Amino acid sequence: MRREKIDVMKLVAVLSISAAGLALLTFLMSRQTDEVFASSKARTDAVALFDSKCAMCHGKDGRGTKFGKAKGAPDFTNSEWQKSHADEQIKSAVTNGRGKSMPAWKDKLSPEEIISLVGRVREFAMKQ
Ligand code: HEC
Repeated sequence: MRREKIDVMKLVAVLSISAAGLALLTFLMSRQTDEVFASSKARTDAVALFDSKCAMCHGKDGRGTKFGKAKGAPDFTNSEWQKSHADEQIKSAVTNGRGKSMPAWKDKLSPEEIISLVGRVREFAMKQ
């Protein structure tokens, strides 16, 4: 009789631990899915933003259009260019402009949008 009672308690303990584990796993999985979804949406937005505001000079492929290159736009797919430019520098160039032909975007884009464009510029390096 006593033995039986201990077995039931063990069973209850094992079951509640598994239930808690399952709940935690479900929570972690749903969170991960949300994060992946959020970042892929952010990426889609950054691509659209780049294509609409920057591609006329930098090209949708980041290599620079004829028009942009004539004004001195760099090739973002060039690994040397990527290595020699820090994120801060890219952010500052997009925010405040650079030289005669690279416009400043601080009045037209939010800081978050500008940061997303730094990511977009970085992405061209991986496409070689
Ligand atoms: C009217 C053409 C034009 C548009 C539009 C334009 N750029 Fe540029 N961009 C240039 C030119 C030209 C340069 C080279 C400037 C220089 O080094 O003198 C440049 C340089 C840059 C650089 C390199 C800065 C550095 O430190 O060397 C980055 C990064 C950049 N542009 C990002 C962007 C982004 C992001 C957008 C869109 C929000 C954008 N550009 C829109 C013409 C343009």
